[in-house]
Amino acid sequence: MFLESKDLLGLKDLSAEEIMYILDTAKTMKHILTSKNKKAPHLQGKTIVTLFHENSTRTRLSFELASKYLSANTANIAASSSSIAKGETLIDTGRTIDSMGCDVIVMRHPMSGAPHLLARHVKASVINAGDGMNEHPTQALLDMFTIMEKKGTLKGLKVAIIGDIYHSRVARSNIWGMTKLGAEVLVAGPATLLPPGMENMGVKVYNTIQEALIDADVVMGLRIQRERQKSGLFPTLREYSKFFGLDDKRLKFAKDDALVLHPGPVNRGVEFSSGVVDGDQSLINEQVTNGVAVRMALLYLLTRRNSIENIN
Ligand code: CP
Repeated sequence: MFLESKDLLGLKDLSAEEIMYILDTAKTMKHILTSKNKKAPHLQGKTIVTLFHENSTRTRLSFELASKYLSANTANIAASSSSIAKGETLIDTGRTIDSMGCDVIVMRHPMSGAPHLLARHVKASVINAGDGMNEHPTQALLDMFTIMEKKGTLKGLKVAIIGDIYHSRVARSNIWGMTKLGAEVLVAGPATLLPPGMENMGVKVYNTIQEALIDADVVMGLRIQRERQKSGLFPTLREYSKFFGLDDKRLKFAKDDALVLHPGPVNRGVEFSSGVVDGDQSLINEQVTNGVAVRMALLYLLTRRNSIENIN
């Protein structure tokens, strides 16, 4: 089996079979990642470039480590210290990277659709590492991988996604991916942070956290994105935390063995209390580990696909 596209731009475009293929490959990659000698030859001779127009700790570092663990050449471009700051266009930047023999460009951008534009103008595979409010597909893949490690399947699981759904590319990618794999997805947040028409994505929508949490198998919090907030979407962080923050008491509405996930970075005391972040049900650190395995899998599958296509 091969991935249909040369690029990984969103989970909206992937089939359930392709998602499972990536997650199954990530299982193998996790064995490499957790072995004593974290080095395998899968990406020998390949070059991976990260091009980030927004800040990142987890996504950028995990792509870089994933590349290195699989023996690739790696380079990073931060938009602020590159010729982008001199006014070079996205397409010209992409073509410049492409001309240096790059195999995969991993891109984060504040504009929805920017990786899609780049992908149309370069030979390299483009991986979307988060575009505006649209998608963050590798985050959702690592979230699904983490849930499946614990529960074996997503089919029939009740997944509550809580918080700033409106601005969340993580929520959108998880909704596309999890519904394809058979989960029941519920979303809850302040009315101003719930975009209209969410039901059309196959989810149930609630205005209180308690309603969404009842009997949930998985609870996923979302970061309040202060950088994307227009004024007035909710009164104050304290008000938000009072009505939508997850603490130990509220978590009891969910099943006793409910898994707690958050993409990070967490605003402690806003989305989650420290008790929840550091509690027994929290998988936040395991999500970070699994993020490396999932990104190793993707880099391998995309470069392998392109190598075989070139032979043919
Ligand atoms: N979850 C996530 O995308 O984190 P970073 O912004 O640190 O990459």
